[in-house]
Amino acid sequence: MELTHEEQQMLDGKYGEGVAIAMKVQVAVGEAFGAERMVEISRAHVALSNQDADLWFAEKLVNGGARCRISPTVNPGFNLEYFQDVTTISPEDESVIKRTRAAYKAIGAILTYSCTPYLEENIPRFGEITAYSESSATPYMNSVYGARTNRESAQSALCAAVTGRTPLYGFLLDANRKGQVLVEVQATLRDDSDYSMLGYCAPKKMGFGVPVFTGIDNPSPEGLMNLGAQLNTAGAVTMYHIVGVTPEARTLEAAFQGEEPQKRVVITDQDLQEMRQALSASTGKIDFAMFGCPHLTIGQVAQIAGQVEGKRLQAELWICTSFQTKELASRMGFMDVISRAGGHIVEDSCVDQPCWHHLYGKKGVTDSPKCAYYTKRRNMEFVLRSIPECVDAAIRGEVA
Ligand code: F3S
Repeated sequence: MELTHEEQQMLDGKYGEGVAIAMKVQVAVGEAFGAERMVEISRAHVALSNQDADLWFAEKLVNGGARCRISPTVNPGFNLEYFQDVTTISPEDESVIKRTRAAYKAIGAILTYSCTPYLEENIPRFGEITAYSESSATPYMNSVYGARTNRESAQSALCAAVTGRTPLYGFLLDANRKGQVLVEVQATLRDDSDYSMLGYCAPKKMGFGVPVFTGIDNPSPEGLMNLGAQLNTAGAVTMYHIVGVTPEARTLEAAFQGEEPQKRVVITDQDLQEMRQALSASTGKIDFAMFGCPHLTIGQVAQIAGQVEGKRLQAELWICTSFQTKELASRMGFMDVISRAGGHIVEDSCVDQPCWHHLYGKKGVTDSPKCAYYTKRRNMEFVLRSIPECVDAAIRGEVA
């Protein structure tokens, strides 16, 4: 790769060992993808994970003196204070969590601990060059905002934040943003959870490529958030287009950049229904309801509060969200309503963190296929329903 004088100095260690490691990783990634040079970024988001390898890498950069040029927002972790009364945590997990927090603080990250930064505090303009990791964030950036990012790992996004650069390849280039597969949506998308099922279903039918959806009108931000999250649970979709909705798909022709689709698939109501059934555990008694994968918005929290007001939940109800949304929920009285019903709103945490030991081996309801998929390794099983249906199940203690 051709590096600028400053980039070469970063690589040679003039800015310290941590920066040199970050640049070395980026040069290797760039060469693997045939990038000719680096470009500057103006935003980043790091999907930190509280796992050993992630911690090892972050500490390696910190110990080498690295500081972020572009402060990234970060993914959820584990809210130690909230969970101390409801679950146990091993000393090893606790140590990893505390060290991860310390490392990301030291490197200069913005400690947002949310997986939906693109809805709250890290919002790009059209065409902005960025480096985002996290399943729903990457497609939202590319598709909904028309910003540009590759599907970064936590490590490559952190390197970009440290150097302020990313290799110029992939979805940063016009040609790779072209639609490849025409996905004709004949299914009726009644609510945001149907966008989740569409997102889970589409990669199974189309395989790899950039999907161009037709038949979708006026999706909500939550619907688009769900669509991106599930496209990257069942598949690997850095970018999609929705004709007439997303900014690089004003027409079908624009979405395909004047070329013909390589493939065409149709998604029907029956496809969504069959997928929901295949992912769901059997109906009947449930122990809990889990929401917030991705983190719920204030509108979704309001919806749940409205439904549980004056009721007493028969099953545990957990909502994961950002600290901003939790604060808003508190100001607007939703926290009190949900707490009085017996539910919980937790900030900074994620369904895929080791904070749910008391739910292992139990059955829940959720609106998120990603939640159901990721928690299999924690021996949790789920019935998939829309948010209102899940809340109704938590009120009754069973799901039909
Ligand atoms: Fe967010 Fe964790 Fe789900 S990062 S999308 S809550 S697996």
